[in-house]
Amino acid sequence: MVDVLLGLQWGDEGKGKIVDYLTPNYDIVARFQGGPNAGHSLHFNGKKFVLNTIPSGIFRESCVNVIGNGVVADPVRLKVEIENILAAGTDVKSNLLISKKAHIIVPTHRILDIANEASKGDKKIGSTLRGIGPTYMDKTGRNGLRLGDIISSNFEQQYRDLVNKHLKLIHNLNYFDFDLEELEKPFFEALEFLRTFKLIDSEYYLNNALSQNKKILAEGAQGSLLDIDFGSYPYVTSSNTTAGGVCNGLGIPPRAINKVKGIFKAYCTRVGSGPFPTELNNEMGEKLRKNGNEFGATTGRPRRTGWLDLPALHYSVMINGVDELIMMKSDVLSGVGEVKVCTSYRVNEIPTSQMPFDACNVEIEPVYESFEGWNDDLTVVRNFEDLPLSFRNYCKEVSVRSDCKIGIVSVGPDREETILC
Ligand code: GDP
Ligand code: IMO
Ligand code: MG
Repeated sequence: MVDVLLGLQWGDEGKGKIVDYLTPNYDIVARFQGGPNAGHSLHFNGKKFVLNTIPSGIFRESCVNVIGNGVVADPVRLKVEIENILAAGTDVKSNLLISKKAHIIVPTHRILDIANEASKGDKKIGSTLRGIGPTYMDKTGRNGLRLGDIISSNFEQQYRDLVNKHLKLIHNLNYFDFDLEELEKPFFEALEFLRTFKLIDSEYYLNNALSQNKKILAEGAQGSLLDIDFGSYPYVTSSNTTAGGVCNGLGIPPRAINKVKGIFKAYCTRVGSGPFPTELNNEMGEKLRKNGNEFGATTGRPRRTGWLDLPALHYSVMINGVDELIMMKSDVLSGVGEVKVCTSYRVNEIPTSQMPFDACNVEIEPVYESFEGWNDDLTVVRNFEDLPLSFRNYCKEVSVRSDCKIGIVSVGPDREETILC
C-alpha cells in the first residue's frame, strides 16, 4: 500500500523532517512531483541536511528511495546532492532509484526561468529560478528530455535541438546575460555521473513492490496552495502537489493509496509572491520569522509569515482527502501571547469560508478568533499529555474546525522532537 505525506499550505511545512521520522515504517520512499525548487530539511544526531530532489528516506539504511517520473531533475544539482550524502557516509548508490521518465532540467530551462520572471516585472511569481516551470512546459509541450534519454546514442543531438528552441525564446525575451558553454560543462559532467546510477522503469518497480505487499511512502514537495490547479493561480508552481499527483507522478493506481497525511505549520508562511490573507506585516510577523527561523532552505529568502488560516487548511484537507493531520513548529508560538486563527473571510465585504476563485484580485479580509497562548518551552516535551493545556486546546480547536484528527505534533526540528498524539 501507499501512504502519502504532503504539504497543506504554501510549502516548507516540515515534510523532510516528518518523512525522515516516518521512514522506518516503510520499505520505499518516493518523490512524485516537483524538483530542486524543494528544500527539505532533516536534523538528526546533531547534523542537518537539506534535500532538493532526493527523497527524505535516504538516511535510513533499509529504505529504497525513488525519484518518480513526475519529478523534474537538474543533473547538476542532483550530482551535488548525491556527493554531499556520500560524504556523510550514506550509501546513495544502492538505495537510490531514478525513473527514466523523470524530465531533465537543462541549463537553458534555468535561463528561461530567469528571463521569464524578469519580463514579468512586478507580476513576477517569485520562482526559485530552478527551471521548474520551463521544464514542465516542455514536458506538456512534448519537447522535453527524460533521464532515460541520456543513455541513448543521439542524446546530444536531441539536447542541441531543444537548446536551439530555447535560445530563440530567450533572445525574444531580450535576455543575453549568460554563458552557455560555462553552464554546459558541469551539465555534461553530471550526466556522465548519473549514467552510473540506477535509471529504472519506476512504475514497474513500484507496482511490483505493491504486489509483494511492500509499504511505500509518497513524499510531496511544495504545498497544496501552490498546486497548479488548486493553488492561488498564477502564483503557483507547475505541478500537481496534491494527492491526485501521486498516481500520475509514480504510475500507481488510485486503489493502492491508503492514508493521506497532511502536514501544516501551527501558523502560516509563504515565499514568493501571491495572496496570503493572514500575512502579518508587523512586529508579530517579524517575531514568527525570528522564532521560526523562517528563511528558505533552497534560496535563503525570508519567508512571509502570518496566523493560521483555517478556510485554507480546510480546503487542502478537502482536495487531498486528508486522513490525518501533522502539526509542525508548535514550539514557535510559545511566548508570543494570545494566538490568533483565521476562521473565515470577508471577501468584498461578504462573509465566506471558501477560497475565492479570484484570490489575486479581491480584497480578502481574515476574520480572527483569539486563543489563550502558552509560555512553556515545548521542545523538551515528549508526551501529548505533558503539553500545556492552552496548547492542547489550540490543537483541539484546529482539529475540530478543519474536520480532521491530529496524529503528530512537532515541537522542534530534530527527529526526536516529535510527539505522537
Ligand atoms: P519542507 O520543505 O516541508 O521539508 O520544510 P523546510 O525544511 O523547507 O522548512 C521547515 C523548517 O522548519 C526547517 O528548517 C526545519 O528544520 C524546521 N522545523 C521542522 N519542524 C520543526 C518544528 O517542529 N519546530 C521548529 N522550530 N522547526 C522545525
Ligand atoms: P518545499 O518542497 C516553498 C514557491 C516559490 C514561488 C512558487 C513558484 O521545500 O516545500 P517555482 O520555483 O516552483 O517556479 O516557484 O512556488 N515554491 C516553494 N515555496 N517551498 C517549496 O518547496 C517551494 N517550491 C516552490 O517560492 O512562489
Ligand atoms: Mg522547503
